[in-house]
Amino acid sequence: MKPNTPTWPRKTREVRNHHFDSTIWNDFRFRPDDIVIGTYAKSGTTWVQQIVGQLIFAGDAEVNVPELSPWLDLRVPPKEQKLPMVEAQTHRRFLKTHLPVDALVFSPEAKYIYIGRDGRDVLWSMYNHHARANAEFYRVLNETPGLVGEPIAPPPASIRRYYHDWLDRDGHPFWPFWESIRSWWEIRDLPNVLLVHFADLKADMAGEIARIARFLEIEVDPDRWPAILDHCSFDHMKRNAARSAPLGGILWDGGAETFIHKGTNGRWRDVLTAQESEKYETLAVEKLGPEAAAWLASG
Ligand code: A3P
Repeated sequence: MKPNTPTWPRKTREVRNHHFDSTIWNDFRFRPDDIVIGTYAKSGTTWVQQIVGQLIFAGDAEVNVPELSPWLDLRVPPKEQKLPMVEAQTHRRFLKTHLPVDALVFSPEAKYIYIGRDGRDVLWSMYNHHARANAEFYRVLNETPGLVGEPIAPPPASIRRYYHDWLDRDGHPFWPFWESIRSWWEIRDLPNVLLVHFADLKADMAGEIARIARFLEIEVDPDRWPAILDHCSFDHMKRNAARSAPLGGILWDGGAETFIHKGTNGRWRDVLTAQESEKYETLAVEKLGPEAAAWLASG
């Protein structure tokens, strides 16, 4: 064991809001080969779900991520419906979560992949996600039974204002940002945890997919590599977005293509002043410490 190996995390709290019902994990029965894909949000979750789906199903173009890989802690449909669904799955399961580690149930046998992305890129992606949300998005989040806390309102017209609100009120109007990164960073040295960065996926997707495959102990038939790489490319995912975007994209004007949006980092550079940008950098070091802040900013 490495000297700085952290202890297995324990669940210390529940998170319930417009999106979450973390209690579902308490009733979830793990299998030893389960895979859990976590992010804060807007950080490449769907991309890595697609990658893992492609690895499990050996490059099958028909893999349908929203059907096969549910967001377990999303409070709709309720756990009474969702749990039997995942219980009935006979393939290797790959589940999505947006919870911080201390609200999750942690299995020493399951494999956990956490993806990080610079908060400014997350925010730019989130703004598109939120600004293009349609009436069904608000109905699902605000009008289904079990809503806890404030309903979600449409975003302001200015992305700058959205950025400052998000930083000033930590994750407003969705959920806190820093605790997600901090909690996963703390357990990065556990043998069943793999940290992946969105920018590294962009810079070397093939290398990162190979690293993910090794971590998951999936041996890839060399003949299937071209199909896997093609199906995980931005262009393929954009063209076939309904097979990867949550709920096939029904929550957004413009459908699933809205969700697989630009796939680029740094779009904030042309909008934020140097001072506005530094506000994020200063907070990142304060909230995460220099090492984790540098990792998150990479790319
Ligand atoms: P942008 O909105 O910046 O384009 P999540 O799945 O966590 O919500 O993340 C969504 C982000 O991942 C979106 O970012 C989306 O375009 C990007 N994405 C999804 N698949 C991608 C791919 N194959 N290549 C690059 N970016 C991808």
